Amino acid sequence: MIRLRVLLFVLALLPGSPSLAAAPGKAAIASAHKLATAAGFEVLDAGGNAFDAAVAVSAALSVVEPQSSGIGGGAFFLLHRATDGKQVLVDARETAPGATDARRYLDDKGELDRDKSVNGALAAGIPGEPAALAWVAEHYGKLPLKRSLAPAIRLARDGFAPDARSLMRLGQRKDAIARDPGASALFLPNGELPKQGWVLKNPDLARTLEQIAAHGHRGFYSGEFAEKLVAGVVKAGGNWTREDLARYAVREREPIVFRYRGHQVVTAPPPSSGGIALAEMLNILEGYDLATLDRSARAHLVVEAMRRAYRDRAEYLGDPDFVKMPVAELIHPLYAAGLRASIHAQKATASDSLPGFMAPVQGTDTTHFSIIDAEGNLAAVTQTVNLPYGAAVVIPGTGFVLNNEMDDFALKAGAPNAYGLVGGNANAPKPGSRPLSSMTPTFVIGPERTLVIGTPGGSRIITMVLTGILAWFDGDAPQKIVDNKRFHHQYLPDVISTENGAFTPEERKRLQAMGHTLSEGEQPWGFMNVVDWNRKSGELRGGSDSRGASGMAMVK
Ligand code: GLY
Repeated sequence: MIRLRVLLFVLALLPGSPSLAAAPGKAAIASAHKLATAAGFEVLDAGGNAFDAAVAVSAALSVVEPQSSGIGGGAFFLLHRATDGKQVLVDARETAPGATDARRYLDDKGELDRDKSVNGALAAGIPGEPAALAWVAEHYGKLPLKRSLAPAIRLARDGFAPDARSLMRLGQRKDAIARDPGASALFLPNGELPKQGWVLKNPDLARTLEQIAAHGHRGFYSGEFAEKLVAGVVKAGGNWTREDLARYAVREREPIVFRYRGHQVVTAPPPSSGGIALAEMLNILEGYDLATLDRSARAHLVVEAMRRAYRDRAEYLGDPDFVKMPVAELIHPLYAAGLRASIHAQKATASDSLPGFMAPVQGTDTTHFSIIDAEGNLAAVTQTVNLPYGAAVVIPGTGFVLNNEMDDFALKAGAPNAYGLVGGNANAPKPGSRPLSSMTPTFVIGPERTLVIGTPGGSRIITMVLTGILAWFDGDAPQKIVDNKRFHHQYLPDVISTENGAFTPEERKRLQAMGHTLSEGEQPWGFMNVVDWNRKSGELRGGSDSRGASGMAMVK
């Protein structure tokens, strides 16, 4: 074990490891909303660095994309500091309240009652987002938190017109929102779904952000505000206490670091399953000369790598503060070599011939943004409230939705799932533990080029980041990477999910002849935001997924 760690450390230091001495002199930000990208540049223009901009973009998204993330949710901030090369994941994932009892999410027959795990205050974990904003500003930023939160406060107070995606999600969650007085007062004016052009003003959220701006971490987690929040959660049927809020702290975690084709990949460690699965898949694929293969032969190998990585995901992984995991082994190239040996070049492996565990279903309404600043600092941030509008609860006077991240735990561990497989208990909720996530903010740093990538999309996040990275190695520009048609396999169900146009009819036929089952033309998924930097030419580029109309990538 120790030898493995030493080997991995040495591998990361081999020649070809990045030296980020050069600086781009300009900045690039790609986010899911133009107002959030603008908030980031406002803070850069005021003298901030990428980490101040990350705080500004994160907080602005919390206001303008309440369906995806917010002050009541959690986040992973992956940071690279140019001056000393420090790379860290600030884990601001939500935690299970001290009074968590998984039995409370079951119905009379002992089955998981999904209404309880996704709707209402009992579905909410203790938020991490406010702690992340305060931590990142204090430890990595140049500007006071107050300055970086100013654009978000302004947006909340002055209002903005929610985009079509936000309104569409509101329609999907209308019934749950209508059950909560605070959420319906905020999002259903006169009890109706608002129309395009409606301006959402949220003075309560502006005040909450002002509390955080003025007092940092304790402006949310202690004092009068915390008292009001806990009382509201308990009144709404939840189980938070003042101690749960007082105990909340971000964790600084060492990222997962591995090498792929002469580049260093830096990605999210547990409690994300994303980095480990990404390492497994890229390690498997490094053994093939992908560039020489036709598209269907290549897709076959990519799918086989996905199948094997997703099989491992649910078995071992959970919150590293509570569960011991064989991380070094799972991301080791020798482990991948063993997996690769089990792949037939022209024949699909049936998933049920690989005994394993079903991946947890994770909420898809998450958001991701990517930043490179003029000094060469990097930030990849993925943040979430889980399902659209989280638990569909707004505690009166706070202005934000509570997450429903308790649903990301294995709430009924040990019971057979829909596929007859028994889930491991690594991801069972324990008081204070963090639920397993798929969020995969990632850097790929080579001798000449740097990529910052990530996306929302629940369990599909990891395969989107994988195929995005493969496309970057093929030479695709960021805008092409985010717009490419997608395919996904997650071990079970044993099908390749595809967007329309992901494969030609001929490629589909070839994949079917190899034994793959395709689910074709699914609803488009993901909302990827990517920036890259070519240190040879000095060029910075960005791409914001055209699947989300309000996204914006900008270089300045
Ligand atoms: N709630 C989505 C995720 O963490 O993956």
